[in-house]
Amino acid sequence: METKLVSPARDGYVLGHSPKEIVRLQKQNLFLEDFTWRCLRDAGVKPGMKVLEVGCGAGDVSLMLAELVGPEGQVVGVDLNPQVLETARARARAAGFDNLLFKQGDIHEIALDHDFGALVGRLILFHLKNPAESLRSLLNHLVPGGLVIFQDYNLYAATAYPSSQLFDQTLGRIIEAFHRGGADPRIGLKLGEIFREAGLPRPEMRCEASISAAEDWPGFEQLALVTRTLLPLFEKFGMATAAEVDVDTLADRLRVEIAGGGRVGHGPDVVSAWATKAS
Ligand SMILES: C[S@@+](CC[C@H](N)C(=O)[O-])C[C@H]1O[C@@H](n2cnc3c(N)ncnc32)[C@H](O)[C@@H]1O
Repeated sequence: METKLVSPARDGYVLGHSPKEIVRLQKQNLFLEDFTWRCLRDAGVKPGMKVLEVGCGAGDVSLMLAELVGPEGQVVGVDLNPQVLETARARARAAGFDNLLFKQGDIHEIALDHDFGALVGRLILFHLKNPAESLRSLLNHLVPGGLVIFQDYNLYAATAYPSSQLFDQTLGRIIEAFHRGGADPRIGLKLGEIFREAGLPRPEMRCEASISAAEDWPGFEQLALVTRTLLPLFEKFGMATAAEVDVDTLADRLRVEIAGGGRVGHGPDVVSAWATKAS
């Protein structure tokens, strides 16, 4: 069945730009930071590099990059959302980085230099209508031999074991809302194909996930926070009402059912891919 594309944000970004979404992005980083550090290091981000990060959000990856490239290097983060960039700038100031610059704009339109040594994006291809085409045009900002590094989710890999009806229902609603809002919840598995279509060599790839039997697993809160962000879409698409979702108690109900019920929570696969632009 064909579905209409709707979004809580006027610019078409399915997760919108609310202050709560800015906080959620920073909490989501708890899941991802180890994977991202490893990926950036193994891909070869080095002191002195000039790096472009697309869809930088609250700056979690930009801050890692600023540390890796050091004072001789430079990082430019780009995002659509001016509010999220205020948070990113404040964090960069608090961390004492002066090699980190944030620019507001659409990555398809914004004027940027063409001498970057690396192009990085985490959880951005997920949201783009034609990721391979976008990547191909972003490569114009890279020097020959420049590094291309992307990380994205395969949300379908998230699960609870033994299975939990509440977990499956919560994840199922999130995946459906993303689909109907125009995002691609399976994009992580497509990174190889996207790199190839963009004209890059076959990337190195890696897949990691968070897994826990503990009550303090950040997965419970993250599922509830994404649900809160997507709730207007659930209602718009007639998927579920706010009363049915009861988002205020969702994290605790998941915690009781998964950790309290002797189950294990398994987050989405986080797929990393990196390659080098031809010299
Ligand atoms: C899911 S967030 C990820 C943020 C960050 N990369 C991270 O991993 O924490 C995606 C970000 O991409 C931004 N974004 C989406 N489409 C964009 C576009 N066309 N141009 C610039 N930024 C965009 C959104 O505003 C949002 O901050």
